[in-house]
Amino acid sequence: MIPEIYGEIRKEEGIFHLPSSEIRCFGAEEQISVFCNRLDRKPQFCEKSDDAVITATIVPRGLHAGSYSLKIQKTRVAVEGEELEGVSNGLVTLFWLLSSPEASCSCQSIQDSPDYEYRGFMIDSCRHFLPAEEIKEMIEQCSLRKMNRLHWHLSDDQGFRIESKLFPALNRTGSWRKEPDGTVYGGFYTQEEIRSIVDFARNRGIEIIPEIDMPGHTSAMIAAYPDLGCDSSKISVPFLPGIFADILCAGKDEVVIFVERLLDEVCSLFPHEYFHLGGDEAPKEHWKNCSRCQRRIINNNLSGEEALQSWFMRQAIDYLATKGKKCIEWNEALEGDYTPGNVLIQYWEEDPSKLGYCDEIAEGNRKCIFSLRPVFYLDFIPGIVPLRRVFFSQNKLQDGKAVPSKNIVGFEACFWSERLLDKSSLFRHAFPRIFAIAQKGWHSGNDYEHFVSLCQQDLKWMNENGIPNMSIEEADPEGDARIDAVISEYRSMMSFFRENGEPEVAEEILEAIPNKLKGEMKPEEVSWIIRNLSD
Ligand code: ACM
Ligand code: ZN
Repeated sequence: MIPEIYGEIRKEEGIFHLPSSEIRCFGAEEQISVFCNRLDRKPQFCEKSDDAVITATIVPRGLHAGSYSLKIQKTRVAVEGEELEGVSNGLVTLFWLLSSPEASCSCQSIQDSPDYEYRGFMIDSCRHFLPAEEIKEMIEQCSLRKMNRLHWHLSDDQGFRIESKLFPALNRTGSWRKEPDGTVYGGFYTQEEIRSIVDFARNRGIEIIPEIDMPGHTSAMIAAYPDLGCDSSKISVPFLPGIFADILCAGKDEVVIFVERLLDEVCSLFPHEYFHLGGDEAPKEHWKNCSRCQRRIINNNLSGEEALQSWFMRQAIDYLATKGKKCIEWNEALEGDYTPGNVLIQYWEEDPSKLGYCDEIAEGNRKCIFSLRPVFYLDFIPGIVPLRRVFFSQNKLQDGKAVPSKNIVGFEACFWSERLLDKSSLFRHAFPRIFAIAQKGWHSGNDYEHFVSLCQQDLKWMNENGIPNMSIEEADPEGDARIDAVISEYRSMMSFFRENGEPEVAEEILEAIPNKLKGEMKPEEVSWIIRNLSD
C-alpha cells in the first residue's frame, strides 16, 4: 500500500472476512459504494449502524481532512474520517488490506494521518485531450494512493477545453487546431461531463481545481475572440508548444468583464474553494506597444508591465473573492508589485535569471504548492526524472534555499501533455513515479529500497488489473541507459521542432560539457541534458 500507513497500528486477535456478495453498510453512501464496487460487492444500506458490517462516518478530531481511523473486528469494521476525504482514505486502506483472493485481513486498529493537506496531480487537457472516461480512470488510480487534488489545466494556447454556453466561439474555434499533417485535433468537456467528473472525484476523496491560465497562454481564447488581444488581430489556435506573445489585453475594460463572466460560468461547475488562475509565462511585448495597456499603467500609478500583470490578476482574484473563492497562481505572481497574501503560489521556477523573486516562500510566510521543475514534472521521461530523483527530492527553491514545511501545503505531480498523447503514455509516465509524490505528501522517508519494494507490490496489482505502468527498471534508469534515453528524447524533440517550427528549446543553453558526455553531441544538446539532469 502506498502511501504506507503512518501512524499507529494495533494488531488484535482474529480475522475479518468480507461478505462475498451483499454487504450491510451504514454511513457515507457514495464513498461506501465506491469501496464495494472496487471489491465487486454490493452495499445494502441499513437504518442503524448496529445492523451494519461496515460503517463509514465522519468524526472530526481537529486533524487534516484526510485523516482516518479503522477498527477492524471479526464481524465488523468501523471507518471514521476527519471529513469525507478521510472516510475515503480509510476505505482505501481497507480496500488494500482486503484485496487478496481470500478478501480477509487480521483484526486491528489503525490511526493514520497525512503530513500535508495537499497531495495533488495536474492533468493538462489542452495540448492533448483525454476523453472524460480516461480522466476518471486517472482519478481512480490517484485516489487509491490517497491523493486528494486534481489540478485540471483546461485552457492554454493549444486549446480551450470547457464547454461554454456564454461564449460559444471558445468551443467552435478555440477547442480545435490544425495539426501539421492537416488534420483537425481537439475537443472539449461538456458541462455535463465536467459535473460527472467532479462528482466521481469527490466520491473518491478528490477535489478538482480548474485552471484558466491568464493573461498569457491564451492564444485559443484570442483565436475565438480576437478583441481579447491588444490589437484585435486574427490568430489561429497553435499546435506548436512554447510561449506565445499573444496575451489578453489588460487595458480594455471589456476584457476584464469577459474574464468575470467566464469565471462565473466555470465556477458554476467546480464547487471547490480554490481556483487556479495560472499567471505563468506571460510575455509583455504586446502590452508595451498597446496604448490602452499603457494608459492603464499610468492611470493606476503602476511601475510597469509586471505590475500591470499583478493589477490584471487582482481583478480576477478580487472578483473570485466575492464568490467565496481563493486563488492559486504559478510563482510568476511574485514577480509583480503586489499579490494578495492569501494567494497560494504553485512553485515551479524555471528561469534562472529570475532567481530571488520567490524568497517569500523560503524566508517569509507565503504558502505554496511545491512542484519544482523538472522533478515534479512527470511528463519528463524517467531518464531526466528517475524514480529515485523524485523520492529523494528536497524542499528547496531552485537556488538552493530551503523551504520550511510550514510554507508547503503539499506537493503536486504535473503532467504537461505536449508529449503525452494518450492515456497509455500518461499512465506510463505517472506510475510508479507518482507514488513517490503520494508518499512524500503523506509522510516522507529515506529508505529507497523499502519504497521500491512497496512500488513492486503495487505494480504487480496494476499489471494483474491491466493498468498501464512502467517497471522499476524503466522508471529508474541508471548509467549509460539513462544517458542514452535522454539523448534519444532530446533528438526526437529537436527533430519535431526542426520539422515544424523554430527549435527554441535549446537556444539559450551553452554550458560546459563533461567529457563523459562529449561523444558526437553538439554543445547545445549536451547543455540541455545537463540542465535537466541536475538536481
Ligand atoms: C509552467 O510550467 N509554465 C508552469
Ligand atoms: Zn493591451
